[in-house]
Amino acid sequence: MMGLGYIGLPTAALIAGKKTMVNGVDVNPKVVNTINQGKVHIVEPDLEEAVSKAVNEGFLKAHLEPKEADAYLIVVPTPFKEKNEPDISYVEAATKAILPLLKEGDLYIIESTSPIGTTEKMKDFIFGARPELDGKIHMAYCPERVLPGNVMYELVHNDRVIGGIDKASTEKAVAFYSEYVDGKLHHTNARTAEMCKLVENSSRDVQIAFANELSLICDKADINVWELIELANKHPRVNILQPGCGVGGHCIAVDPYFIVSDYPMESKIIGTAREINNYKSFWCAEKVQTEKLKFELEHGYKPRVALMGLAFKPNIDDLRESPAKYIVQKVLQNVNNEEYFIVEPNIESHHIFKLTDYSEAFKKADIVVYLVAHDEFKELPRDSSKKILDFCGILSR
Ligand SMILES: NC(=O)c1ccc[n+]([C@@H]2O[C@H](COP(=O)([O-])OP(=O)(O)OC[C@H]3O[C@@H](n4cnc5c(N)ncnc54)[C@H](O)[C@@H]3O)[C@@H](O)[C@H]2O)c1
Repeated sequence: MMGLGYIGLPTAALIAGKKTMVNGVDVNPKVVNTINQGKVHIVEPDLEEAVSKAVNEGFLKAHLEPKEADAYLIVVPTPFKEKNEPDISYVEAATKAILPLLKEGDLYIIESTSPIGTTEKMKDFIFGARPELDGKIHMAYCPERVLPGNVMYELVHNDRVIGGIDKASTEKAVAFYSEYVDGKLHHTNARTAEMCKLVENSSRDVQIAFANELSLICDKADINVWELIELANKHPRVNILQPGCGVGGHCIAVDPYFIVSDYPMESKIIGTAREINNYKSFWCAEKVQTEKLKFELEHGYKPRVALMGLAFKPNIDDLRESPAKYIVQKVLQNVNNEEYFIVEPNIESHHIFKLTDYSEAFKKADIVVYLVAHDEFKELPRDSSKKILDFCGILSR
């Protein structure tokens, strides 16, 4: 298992739990040491128990360097570079590291979210360097679609899409996953499997962009967007998603760029959806500024502002690519003696922001800005004299 992060480690624990020997590999010595003590470096329900059991029973061992195996899974990061281009250098580095160990009959699988054609690129790379293996190892792509917080369950029960570089590869990879996965295993080719992962997240992004676009129109047209969507969804074939302050996280806000970057002329809707969702965050930050100025003009003193939520979605502690965090940063760039209370009930402290308890922030603030619909915020009073900016529909839930 090349890469022992949010996806690689649970997958390693699952496979080792079925009494298959797993050599986990990570370039981070802290990760390797933690796992070898039977502990975990990431928060995920039931993971520590599974890792501790697998390590104690001798089926999981972590290393800094790869060991010879029969199957290699690549589960390393695939971030994007400047200009939103995908960065597959981690996949390349992990593949290069196992290159000398590969032998006839081996199975090589990429699970990292990857641009279309990555598996074929790795095929050319491997067979270019080891031509004697051409046609003698099996290579496939199998994306991961688990929900953080429910990974140990979904790893087993979700359907999987598995695409080989040829039929034999697909079949070998399907046989491998069938040992560990109860969900259906769908056969395809590598390019389709790569695209499938990107399309799943792009589809969500496009649908959220539609809701966010409606929220901008409704703001101008003086219509409550939440009520509008609820009513429109009474139509038996309409299902509009909820708007918010943007789109975040390391999947939906990232993966569409993997398509747009390679197919810019063809991916107009996907690209525009990214722009709309990014613009929505900018628009929210501008709205806060405008409200602040209005308040000062009306009351003759500067408002105290509560910025409620930093996470990228409700009830989690994950701030990656978070639009709420972006909005808070943007608002704080224009501080002019106003007092701000920054709230995130799911984390204890933050290295940049001083956090305030949510009820204290609500009590003290003149303007309350709901950025994330955390459950805690739903308990706060609704009929108050405060100016409320509700970007996540908390008052409509
Ligand atoms: N986290 C999710 O919910 C999720 C869901 C679906 C798909 N994915 C995709 O799965 C892939 C992995 O994501 P993650 O969240 O597990 O990432 P992560 O950052 O949590 O873990 C990746 C690990 O790989 C290690 N690593 C980097 N280079 C390496 C190398 N050359 N050899 C060995 N180890 C190396 C890192 O040190 C890190 O521990 C990404 O492509 C991601 O987009 C993630």
